[in-house]
Amino acid sequence: MLEIRDFHVKFNSRSREAVGGISFTIQDGEILGLVGESGSGKSVTAMSIAGLLPRRQCTYSGDILLDGQDLLHADRSVLRTLHGRRIGVVFQEPMSAMNPLLTVGEQVGEVLRVHTSLSKAERREKVLSAMADVELPEPEVLYGRYPHELSGGQLQRAMIAAAIIIEPSLLLLDEPTTALDVTIQAQILALLRRLNREKGISQLFISHNLAVVRKLCSRVAVMQRGLLVECGDTDDIFFHPSHPYTKNLIAAIPVREHRMQAAAGPFADAKEAGRAVSSPEAGRGAAPDSAVSSSEAGRGAALDSVIEVSSPSSAAGIPAANGTLSKGGE
Ligand SMILES: Nc1ncnc2c1ncn2[C@@H]1O[C@H](COP(=O)(O)OP(=O)(O)O)[C@@H](O)[C@H]1O
Ligand SMILES: [Mg+2]
Repeated sequence: MLEIRDFHVKFNSRSREAVGGISFTIQDGEILGLVGESGSGKSVTAMSIAGLLPRRQCTYSGDILLDGQDLLHADRSVLRTLHGRRIGVVFQEPMSAMNPLLTVGEQVGEVLRVHTSLSKAERREKVLSAMADVELPEPEVLYGRYPHELSGGQLQRAMIAAAIIIEPSLLLLDEPTTALDVTIQAQILALLRRLNREKGISQLFISHNLAVVRKLCSRVAVMQRGLLVECGDTDDIFFHPSHPYTKNLIAAIPVREHRMQAAAGPFADAKEAGRAVSSPEAGRGAAPDSAVSSSEAGRGAALDSVIEVSSPSSAAGIPAANGTLSKGGE
């Protein structure tokens, strides 16, 4: 559905290209992970798909096509309609993405006000239903609250509600869980997985954390300094990385977590279907016993432990510092 071909961006104020000619696709119903260190061009790529590239401040070339329609060169009005109807966007900091002076309900429904002719009452119905969809408690109460009255996790759910209310075919998620604590992160990942499964929404999930991506995404693209150094099935990349940079990223995930993941596998669905995990790691007996059985408890434990790795406090302790995705300068 989304196809990016030989896409370049160079900001006028910089000597080096922010994105240096990347190509990848997102298929219908797929969650593609985009990983890479800070400054590698992930957000610029997402913003370009979202039609938010500051065009006057840069030169760009290549193609970004959504079901064959050109997103990169389309004029503003076409883009606005397209993005209001087909693409939802969620950024890292829910607090800064929200207007402090408008209620949560008004903001979740904003896109309906702009892009549909629904009445106020109809919009309210849809907002409440979207808020319930993202498992916000007591939607009628939260509807009238202001952003500062919600927790970080609730705000991020509200942002996701605002993004899915238009029933988009593609959701762009730029580090949507990075600002959240470990438990909330896990809940948001579970929500994204459910939205993908139940509503078939394709997703581009950006993260600097390969372990989180492994949990959610069927394919992964790895960026370094504006280039796509590797792209493929999550399992293939995990067990047979070909680029040294990717190898470093994987080496940076602590062994215990990596092995638990190897045993648990990325997809609960696949496991439920009885798909064998044919990884060398698992084969070598790294797949341990009880904790990583296919039981609900085992999966939960594996998810939690992996996500723990991504928390800022434990990130500092990750070995192979050159492979650790730095958050510096963001
Ligand atoms: N508006 C801008 N003007 C100039 N340089 C920018 C702008 N936005 C991003 N960049 C630069 O482009 C590069 C890629 O940035 P970004 O896509 O935000 O990285 P990432 O999301 O992978 O951390 C960085 O070097 C960043 O400084
Ligand atoms: Mg970014």
